[in-house]
Amino acid sequence: MKYDLEFLENYWMPFTSNREFKADPRLVVRGEGMYMYSHDGERILDGSSGLFCCAAGHSRLEIAEAVYAQLKEAAYVPPFQLSQPLAFELARRLSQMTPAGLDHIFFVNSGSESIDTAMKIAYAYHYSRGEGQRQRFVSRERAYHGVNMAGVSLSGMIKNRQAFGPGIPGVVHMRHTWLPENRFVRGQPDTGIELADDLERMAMNYGPDTIAACIVEPIAGSTGCLVPPKGYLERLREICDVHGILLIFDEVICGFGRLGAPFGAQAFGVIPDVMTMAKALTNAAQPMGAVAVSDKVHSTILEAAPEGAVEFFHGYTYSAHPAACAAGLATMDLFEKEDLVARAETLSPYFLDQVFALSDLEIITDIRGYGLFAGFDISPEGGAGVRGLDFQKRLYHNGLHIKMTGDAGLLAPPLIAERKHVDRMCEILRQTLLEY
Ligand SMILES: Cc1ncc(COP(=O)(O)O)c(C=O)c1O
Repeated sequence: MKYDLEFLENYWMPFTSNREFKADPRLVVRGEGMYMYSHDGERILDGSSGLFCCAAGHSRLEIAEAVYAQLKEAAYVPPFQLSQPLAFELARRLSQMTPAGLDHIFFVNSGSESIDTAMKIAYAYHYSRGEGQRQRFVSRERAYHGVNMAGVSLSGMIKNRQAFGPGIPGVVHMRHTWLPENRFVRGQPDTGIELADDLERMAMNYGPDTIAACIVEPIAGSTGCLVPPKGYLERLREICDVHGILLIFDEVICGFGRLGAPFGAQAFGVIPDVMTMAKALTNAAQPMGAVAVSDKVHSTILEAAPEGAVEFFHGYTYSAHPAACAAGLATMDLFEKEDLVARAETLSPYFLDQVFALSDLEIITDIRGYGLFAGFDISPEGGAGVRGLDFQKRLYHNGLHIKMTGDAGLLAPPLIAERKHVDRMCEILRQTLLEY
């Protein structure tokens, strides 16, 4: 098939330089394990698990078969006042992976929807306890919480909000945790815990009883993998506890083994009240997200409603879609059978060694990393993000896919990666950086 401009005309691509792309299309027609295969027959190593979502590798047959079987059996069941067994089964399996006490699962269809849902849960929780005045949310600079209006309002990445109005009122932002003195620090930096005190300042500035929740990604992902300083998340937890503020972790990237533990919460030993997730939940074979909620938050909302009444006026036509549940369950099986979380933990030191070895290149101005997740910055040229986009294209033509955000590169290989894949990934990165 000829992928000329006429063929490409009608699809408006997301987060893409459409005009540039259509002049030099990069189409993937097949995926398998660690690789994607392009329309012109090239094999591309996947250094970012698609978009951090294909944790068990591309196009797993086990998942495809489970989805196909479910679609034949019951392709759709309305999720309001009716359900299907896989929803309960997946919630049960998932609750075995989430931290103890975060056992109530609400299903959605994407990470962005999980953020809307978590915000509504926070509003509803406080409303149910007679504290409906708690309507402020504390987020963080450089945060990425998806693209729906809730996520855009919480966002701390300028391009993602600049054109889209003022957002939901009452959202305030703490400082981000990137500090110049922490450049090239592997794992959690020693300095920066004091940045968590921004939450206390917000509480003192607005009144602690006006704040519904503080929301952070355990590691700020899309912006470039900012690992929290030692003690930072613990301090946020303490401040939330003192003031009755809910702590929400957005685990959309950090979840499902990426950090060498089931979720960021377990990796850093800090347990939030609410956790959002998506992406690797179904290994990206079906769109799905979820929100895990603590017993306290769940029972407060349920018990505030009259007996027999709907407790939470929220849900989507495709909440707990049968095909997505089937994909989720098959993914959980793969996580168990292939011990993917432990694999990520085992490979992490080697992965970080190889990635940090790139720090001898002058063009690299910082590297950060934790688990099977790393970010690096390249010095910009021709305006912010211009070199980043060019670099991503060159990588693709050299046989490697990674996610770039501006001039930051994000490395998050599938958890099935072996040392040879890490070696190859770093080889292509080095060779391509040397082209500049
Ligand atoms: C931390 C975080 N939250 C939310 C989202 C939004 O997820 P989705 O693109 O599935 O809506 C993302 C996507 O990358 C993310 O990284």
